[in-house]
Amino acid sequence: MDVISVIRTKRDRGRLSDEQIDWVIDAYTKGEVADEQMSALAMAILLNGMDRAEIARWTAAMIASGERMDFSSLPRPTADKHSTGGVGDKITLPLAPLVAACGAAVPQLSGRGLGHTGGTLDKLESIPGWRALLSNDEMMGVLRDVGAVICAAGDGLAPADKKLYALRDVTGTVEAIPLIASSIMSKKIAEGTGSLVLDVKVGSGAFMKNREDAAELARTMVGLGTDHGVRTVALLTDMSTPLGLTAGNALEVRESVEVLAGGGPADVVELTLALAREMLDAAGLKDADPAKALRDGSAMDHWRRMIAAQGGDPDAALPVARERHVVTASASGVLTALDAYAVGVAAWRLGAGRARKEDPVQAGAGIEMHAKPGDSVTAGQPLLTLHTDTPERFEYALAALEGGVTISPSGTAYEPQPIVLER
Ligand code: URA
Repeated sequence: MDVISVIRTKRDRGRLSDEQIDWVIDAYTKGEVADEQMSALAMAILLNGMDRAEIARWTAAMIASGERMDFSSLPRPTADKHSTGGVGDKITLPLAPLVAACGAAVPQLSGRGLGHTGGTLDKLESIPGWRALLSNDEMMGVLRDVGAVICAAGDGLAPADKKLYALRDVTGTVEAIPLIASSIMSKKIAEGTGSLVLDVKVGSGAFMKNREDAAELARTMVGLGTDHGVRTVALLTDMSTPLGLTAGNALEVRESVEVLAGGGPADVVELTLALAREMLDAAGLKDADPAKALRDGSAMDHWRRMIAAQGGDPDAALPVARERHVVTASASGVLTALDAYAVGVAAWRLGAGRARKEDPVQAGAGIEMHAKPGDSVTAGQPLLTLHTDTPERFEYALAALEGGVTISPSGTAYEPQPIVLER
């Protein structure tokens, strides 16, 4: 087999055969297909697509490029959640211990942030002592003892995806539904969860800007999971405005702890409970009551044990940025839009995110929001507080926010949007 014929097949809108797919994924993982050749193929896939059978084979080949984990020895059913990424999306933090408190085991392999969306591991690393890197044995130990673990995926899991995702990131080929679906699902299927709930984000702060694309991505992923024996459900959820009132690492940990303590912003609580119910349902625990587990402290108890089991101190003070800048409302009226992408880029520029994989993040950097779309505001009142250790970044963050905040003096332009758009 030669790679040029594989690239030409897709360039000329043909179907890749099973043999071509198996060969190219294996050869790329071993370094026998060069990055420039794989990026040409990824671009041909982005432009010309793949059919269901090609996506299924591509996913299976990526799973076969590495190891598969096995949780069948655990006494509880496993349930996992994956979000396609958004701004202020801290839901994994309260969700994993909450679902564990209700009787499922949650093996949550998570990632770091890149670009304007935050990463769960970056958020948790703002807790002094907490470790994202666990051996497979350590991960199993935390799952067995606590019922929830949030950690980095080991190098052995879908290594083809690790290489390909990094390549797509620098070649403008991330936004291809076949490549996104196979990338996410190869890792989740290799991880070995019994059930999976997908939170597919729609809106300015998400990969998928419109509902049709998000629904197609969701259907493709649900099909892949189901074909591999994983009970898979997807929710389409709104990402036109940030989730909650914070975007940034330590700021989001603080807000997550508020949710676990029975408080927190209404949208974060609503989505956490909606996803928890889906996960428990998919895991066969239909009678569990996640709202009760938030009220009675058992979710908080699981959080504290999970953090401590991974070396973190749940009582330690969280890092705080050295500098703050307050953005005030320019007029009185109703806040009709607080754009997720603008807030995400601004938080990223303040130091909460990274431009390259190897860049450090600032634990305390980010944005606190003092109003949400639909709230009445008065000219001069604080709308946002920007946090950073490096005040020269304020100027760039403020530039990102330009046009991202809309206040309507009459309030007539505001249409409330549900969080869960579709199941
Ligand atoms: N997340 C992934 O893991 N892969 C993608 O391709 C996009 C988002």
